[in-house]
Amino acid sequence: EHQAPIYLKRVTSSTHDDLKQLLVDAPGKTLTPGTCVLAEMQTRGRGRRGRTWLSPFGSNLYASFYWPLPEGLNSALGLSVAVGLRLAQILEQAGIQGVSVKWPNDVYIQGAKVAGVLVELEGEPTGEGHALIGIGLNLSMPERFTQNIEQPYTDVQKHLDAPLNRHQWAVTLIRGVTDVLEQFRRHGLADLVTEWRRLDHFYNQPVNILLGQHVQQGVGQGIDNYGALLVRQGSGLKRYFGGEISIRAR
Ligand code: ATP
Ligand code: BTN
Repeated sequence: EHQAPIYLKRVTSSTHDDLKQLLVDAPGKTLTPGTCVLAEMQTRGRGRRGRTWLSPFGSNLYASFYWPLPEGLNSALGLSVAVGLRLAQILEQAGIQGVSVKWPNDVYIQGAKVAGVLVELEGEPTGEGHALIGIGLNLSMPERFTQNIEQPYTDVQKHLDAPLNRHQWAVTLIRGVTDVLEQFRRHGLADLVTEWRRLDHFYNQPVNILLGQHVQQGVGQGIDNYGALLVRQGSGLKRYFGGEISIRAR
């Protein structure tokens, strides 16, 4: 079995773009599963739906992973859920309190965003395809960071007593992500749904579901086996699959 390569960059536009370029240049247009691009800074980091992921130089980690989906893109619905959950577990294992996940892709410490996951799919819905899985993890935001982030954010260092070891965190991140991708490939989300509930920021909480201009009220009920968001609305349980949905506290 091939070891997946790790590409290290100091500055890049976006590790997602780097991964796409590697794919274009690769013989057979395919990469070893788990191939990773890791950068120290991005000039055009992005989040969901064209939003910006601020990616200053400091100790933060910006990484993108290649992952094939031979069974088609439908199997990918739970990918960002699985990866976000693993990030949350990694933070907890480092001794950090108050870690939670927000569907489908955010990780929080005490209500402030510390990491995000961005999954892009390429290929045919029913045929073969692959996922590009991007992770931004704030280890230590630069001291004089003044750019505006319109929601509360934090970094790992603020929640640790001792100075963190960035190399160690990079290893833990790469290991954790590749491990959970393998778990997801074999078992889907089956073993993760209960764990999601434990860490779910909105479990049993009143929420607003934003669908474009529409807002619906409900109570968070975690996720199903496919990674869909479950919301109690009146006496019914509603499932949300789409990527165009945001969940907010009510
Ligand atoms: P949702 O995914 O529910 O729609 P969201 O507002 O968190 O919510 P995302 O696309 O997941 O949207 O993340 C992008 C947002 O994350 C940005 O609009 C900004 O508010 C915030 N953000 C950007 N850079 C950082 C960073 N380095 N650390 C924490 N938060 C950031
Ligand atoms: C989000 O919360 O919307 C997801 C943010 C994902 C950011 C990472 S950083 C590495 C990769 N490259 C990007 O441009 N975005 C992702």
